[in-house]
Amino acid sequence: MMDNPALLAAAGAVLRANDLGAYTRPSPRLYPHQWNWDSAFVALALAYSDPGRMEREVDTLLRAQWTNGMLPHIHYNPGITGYFPGPEWWPDVPVRRAGERTSGISQPPVLPTAVYRAGCALPEAGVRRAWWARLYDPLCEMLLFFRRYRTIAGCPLLVMVHPWESGLDNSPRWDFATRSGVRPRLPYARHDTGVVSPAERPRTPDYDLYMYLVELIAGHRYDLAGFFPETPFAVYDALFNAIWYRAALDLDRIAADLGRPPALPADALAAFREAYHERLWDERSALFLDFDLCAGRPIHVETIAGLGAIFGGLVDSGRAGRMYAAYRDRCRACRALPSVPPDQSAYEPGRYWRGPVWVNTNWFVVRGLEEAGLTADARALADETLDLIRAHGFCEYFHASSGVGLGGQEFSWTAALAIDLLMRPVAASPGGARTERR
Ligand code: DGY
Repeated sequence: MMDNPALLAAAGAVLRANDLGAYTRPSPRLYPHQWNWDSAFVALALAYSDPGRMEREVDTLLRAQWTNGMLPHIHYNPGITGYFPGPEWWPDVPVRRAGERTSGISQPPVLPTAVYRAGCALPEAGVRRAWWARLYDPLCEMLLFFRRYRTIAGCPLLVMVHPWESGLDNSPRWDFATRSGVRPRLPYARHDTGVVSPAERPRTPDYDLYMYLVELIAGHRYDLAGFFPETPFAVYDALFNAIWYRAALDLDRIAADLGRPPALPADALAAFREAYHERLWDERSALFLDFDLCAGRPIHVETIAGLGAIFGGLVDSGRAGRMYAAYRDRCRACRALPSVPPDQSAYEPGRYWRGPVWVNTNWFVVRGLEEAGLTADARALADETLDLIRAHGFCEYFHASSGVGLGGQEFSWTAALAIDLLMRPVAASPGGARTERR
């Protein structure tokens, strides 16, 4: 088995192979364009080896930002054709920057946290501050977009409007919407199942829902107030909201370093935190659950998304420890940590977000446990994650019981987060890049 220096070198080689100059594709054939949170994870890794290239990765992503602040989930490369759904599915609007081809929905806002952590890993304070100062306003706008355009009825929680926005596309949490049986008006042909076995990807009814929602959202020119009365899918996603909150805290850290006022006032963050606990906490499962706004009720499906609050800094270390222990305990028969516990009826150990282990969700938990001071648990989970990669390669995800690598191969964020787990600062603070090289 590869030792750590060999693993680090192999991870670097994956990122170089996927480097298209201005951005890093997530995977050679499956995902050839630039994806929002994928590039955020990649930037984190590039901070350790190539800060100039890291800056370019983020600049290319931010070129896609709409003038209303939204950072789209896909930034299309005009030189690549044949991907489905292509830019023609996302009609133009005045807030899209001229000349950029993008999708019309967003993705979990990992970027501010990645920029904060990547900045902490830069050795020179002057370089770090100049980079942060240059990015601070677009990153604030990216977060404020959700407060301005994705809240309803006075609740500070953020409304997510498409399973692709959650990043966990076919999570069983969204089965209630798939079951509605909606289908798009236009025919479509999938690209993903020509690259990866259909047994490892979302099913046809899932894609029918995805494309129905694309048509609905695009038909209303991406305006939540316009499509909300018609959509079968509008949710408070526990993971998405936790990532947003983490991003707000990390932007505040950047603001403090730059001597600027915080992006969000403390009372706004406190109100968000209170609403998150009040609306989403489920005592029985010791997890936060998602909320279906169309039906006005919690979604009783338990998944790793319910641990997002640990990453978000939304729970104290006592509760973080209890949540983590309870999840691990029910998943003892699996590789750590399955995206869905095996006791859930929808569990499928080898199908995308319905059971397999993903490196990014493990990374969220590792980073959250570390911030909560639960360093032994964090280190153990980081080691288990790295061992999975060592044994099975830089795959998109791993079978929840055998650990076999599945989905896209040479997957960039698996490589990027392996680099971060191998190199991560023990405590992220500006200039505090004392790395934990093992
Ligand atoms: C997306 O576009 O986010 C989907 O996850 C691709 O499978």
